[in-house]
Amino acid sequence: MSGAAPSATVAAAREARVAACLDRFTAAEREAVVTLRRTLHAAPELSWQESGTQATLRAALQAAGIPDVRAIARTGLVATIPGRVPGAPVIALRGDIDALPIHEETGLPFASRHDGVMHACGHDMHASWTVAAGLLLARAPAAGDVRLILQPAEEVGQGASEVLASGALDGVAAIFGGHVDWRFRVGEVVATSGPLAASTDEFTIVFHGTGGHGARPQDTRDPVVALAAFVMEVQTLVSRRLDPGLPGVVSVGVVEAGAAANVIPERARCAGTIRATVPAARTLLREGVRALAESVAATHRVRAEVTLHDGTPPLVNTPRAAAWAQQAAGALLGDEALRVLATANMGGEDFAYYTERMDGCFMRIGTWREGRERSGVHTPRFDPDEAALFVGGAVLAECARIASGGS
Ligand code: NI
Repeated sequence: MSGAAPSATVAAAREARVAACLDRFTAAEREAVVTLRRTLHAAPELSWQESGTQATLRAALQAAGIPDVRAIARTGLVATIPGRVPGAPVIALRGDIDALPIHEETGLPFASRHDGVMHACGHDMHASWTVAAGLLLARAPAAGDVRLILQPAEEVGQGASEVLASGALDGVAAIFGGHVDWRFRVGEVVATSGPLAASTDEFTIVFHGTGGHGARPQDTRDPVVALAAFVMEVQTLVSRRLDPGLPGVVSVGVVEAGAAANVIPERARCAGTIRATVPAARTLLREGVRALAESVAATHRVRAEVTLHDGTPPLVNTPRAAAWAQQAAGALLGDEALRVLATANMGGEDFAYYTERMDGCFMRIGTWREGRERSGVHTPRFDPDEAALFVGGAVLAECARIASGGS
């Protein structure tokens, strides 16, 4: 296979499918969705501070003809769209809504008006395409009720647990969501079964020794040497202990000890992150960090105080929900639009808490188009193509229809 003709044909077919997604919406609806996204984009709010975002989204949902909107999880919302068939499975669609502490440099007319805060992870897109899905479902309901979950505080990995605690997902059979992805074109979707994002645990280790004069190490128990040994040794967890077929990362990001060149300090501290894509690897690495810190400390006659901070679990899409999402995306965009991640995503995503409890599929939704700058999420110039709003909205609505029984 080579030459420009086939790829030009593929591109034309993809653009036609994207146009068909846009055509599912009326001109007025398209304008409302774009306006919503730009309104959110111009007024980004950090995790747990999304009260303005919550008000904007509440108004947008009500304007969309979805009156049943309730506040949940402090700054979040759940909106319910009644289904056609009593007792049919209830489906949830989730969009996260918080922004990042990044100063925007896109120069867009609707760029952030909040200094140092930016929707650099596309959560303005996620919130808006969730509302867009609501527009389609309000007009043509699924078999079962659909709950739109507008979730706060994803960036700090806390919002999903509070949504679960609120009871907003009680009785839900399956949940779907997606993330913008500039590595894929508009009209391409990743909806794979299995691992999609990594766990995000962190550790802090304090090596307690006995300080003294740098000239007389024999009178001390040097925590700096123990820390240095640990930093080197800890890499063997991934290279020697973990199955080479499983992705994993242990990175030390903080190293801190001492204040004078000729003083051996009492303490040395390091902190780092542990990433894994399946629960067994997560457990192995967490336990490995603890055991290694303690054994290195013993070797160097110091004491290790190990603290593990729980992050989000690995996000593992369930086979049933992934099959529904593939069916939905394939029906709208063609099977050639279904892509896979080239390598494991070691980033975290708190949607993971949902798929621990129920069927769920988290998708990656392409936002790049020919001619656009390739600037990734969490950068000051991230600028996704807005056509992805309608691809995301149409795919999510279709997921809800298929998962709640028939189309
Ligand atoms: Ni994100």
